[in-house]
Parts: sequence; C-alpha cells; structure tokens
Amino acid sequence: MRHKILFFVFLYLLANASQAQTPWVVPDDRNAKLSTTAFTEQNQTSGKDLYQTNCKSCHGDPGKNNIIKLVPPPPDPASAQLQQNTDGALHFKIGEGRGAMPAFKNVLSSADVWSLIAYLRSLNNDYKQQLAVQPTFGGEVFDKVDIKLLADPASNNIVAVLTGVKGSLTKPIAGLEIKLFVKRYFGNLIIDKPMETNMEGKASFVFPKDMPGDAFGNISLLAQLSNEELFGLIKTESVIAIGVPTNRTPLTEPRALWNVVQKTPIWLLLAYLSSVLVVWGFIVIVMLQLRTIFRLGE
Ligand code: HEC
Repeated sequence: MRHKILFFVFLYLLANASQAQTPWVVPDDRNAKLSTTAFTEQNQTSGKDLYQTNCKSCHGDPGKNNIIKLVPPPPDPASAQLQQNTDGALHFKIGEGRGAMPAFKNVLSSADVWSLIAYLRSLNNDYKQQLAVQPTFGGEVFDKVDIKLLADPASNNIVAVLTGVKGSLTKPIAGLEIKLFVKRYFGNLIIDKPMETNMEGKASFVFPKDMPGDAFGNISLLAQLSNEELFGLIKTESVIAIGVPTNRTPLTEPRALWNVVQKTPIWLLLAYLSSVLVVWGFIVIVMLQLRTIFRLGE
C-alpha cells in the first residue's frame, strides 16, 4: 500500500516537473537563419496542406482553440507564442521537435518546412518576410516596394505605379512586369496583358469598356508584381469606379416557392385557392343537405 502511494507521489512530481516550461533553446545560427526564397502564395497553399496532414491533429485550426490537451500544450499556429519565433527558430523547432512535439526533419524536406512556415506566417498580419538575400529591383535594394492603382476614365485606362522606398526617398521603379486582375468570387480575371513599368514606374492597362461593376460602377482590382519567386508577394488591391453601373437582381427576386406571398408563383396561388374553395364548397353542400334532412324530420 505504502509503495503504491509513494509511486503516485512520484508520478505526480514527475508530471509537475515536465509541466514547468523550460525555455526551448535554439542555437544562435539556427535562430538567425532566413529563407533564401520569398514566401509565395503557392508556398502558403502547399504549407497549408502539409499543416492539415501533419500538424492540425495536435495544434488545431488557427484561432479555434481546438488543440489537443498535452503538457506543455501545442500552441495555436496564429498565437503570439508561436509567431514570436524567428523564421529560423520555427525551422529548428519543427525539424528537431521536443517532448510530445515530433521531429519532422526526417519526414519533411527543408523546403517543405519553409512552406509550412510560409503558411504559419500567412496567419500573422504583422509579419513581413526578411529574406536571406535582399531582392534587388532594377539593381537597387529598397526597404519597401509599393504599387498604386489610378484610373484614367477618359481613356478607360488603369495605371499601376511601382515605387520603392529607401529611407526618406521614394523612387519610381522601371522595367518590371505588373499584372492586373479583376477580383472575382472564384479566381481572378486577368485584364489586358502583363505590362512593364516605364521610366516613371508606370504601367498602363487598357480596361474593357463594358465590364459590369456594382450599382456605382465600382470594381475590385488587384495588381501584382510578376516573378513572385524573386521579389516575394508584392501586390495591391483597390476599388475603382471604372465599370458600368449595374443593378443586379438578387437571386431570390423571381417568383419562387420559398418566397414571400407577393412573389408566390401564380399556379401555386390558384391551385391553393381553388382547393380551399372546393373543400369549403363541399362542407357547405353537406350542411345544406343536413338542414333539408332535419326539415324533413320535422
Ligand atoms: C503529436 C502532437 C504534435 C504534432 C503532430 C505537432 N506538434 Fe508542434 N508541438 C506539440 C507540442 C506538445 C508542443 C510544445 C512542445 C514544448 O514546448 O516542449 C509543440 C510545439 C511546437 C512549436 C514551438 C512553439 C513554441 O512555443 O515556440 C512549433 C513551431 C510547432 N510545434 C509546430 C508544429 C508543426 C509545424 C507541426 C506539423 C509539421 C507540428 N508542430 C506537429 C505537439 C505537436
């Protein structure tokens, strides 16, 4: 009996000892490691797939708090605890594992782990990727590269302006290709063809004159720098009133079974009303017959 109690005390102490979270030490060189390629949308998608098959069972869905209860708990992928890691630290921790967290370095390639990190980072709006090698834009390195979209309703052109910011200096970037899209529910529709920026950093796209917009002619546009692998994801989204104002009738507008009374299909109204009339007519006839029977009885 005493042995049993001692055994449980021992177990309790052991559980507590492992519960005390010791910091996860990452070697300096691994902590500072950066990806040599930019995180692309494609990386994020394949990273998401990898996450669903390898990680979700423990770490749950981002923000849903459906993690598996382990000690220490696997952090939510969108949490500050996980996101505060450097890219290198994430790469190290996913590769090496610790305790209940498996080591993935023999399961996933290093490139796969970077894709996973690309996905994890897509859950963090404040994250800005730093590359191992800074990409150059027309031979120059910038702190920040921006695209702006402007409309020229006279010519029905959309102009994308590509600029780089270095310190307090803003410069147009020439000679790079930009793609313009109209945003759709399913996928994006490319407009014109990819255009190269001129010396003023401008690329001009001929916009179709008959593109339907919303009731005010607004259209959601997306401009993106080509060659994502080299430059990373540089894009901008703007709503510009360049479309044809269109009042779309809601899907529930036509007469339909599930609609309000005013919009019921005519055949249904007639069928319903006539059947009500037939039934009431029948009842009235039966009552009249009954009355004649009573009269005859008297
Ligand atoms: C069997 C459950 C399990 C699976 C599967 C799993 N993890 Fe973990 N993970 C954990 C646990 C538990 C911890 C906490 C480990 C610790 O702090 O000692 C953890 C910690 C981590 C950390 C460190 C967070 C921090 O505190 O800095 C990262 C990053 C991570 N996991 C990413 C992943 C990724 C990416 C995958 C999929 C490739 C994955 N994990 C799969 C259980 C799991």
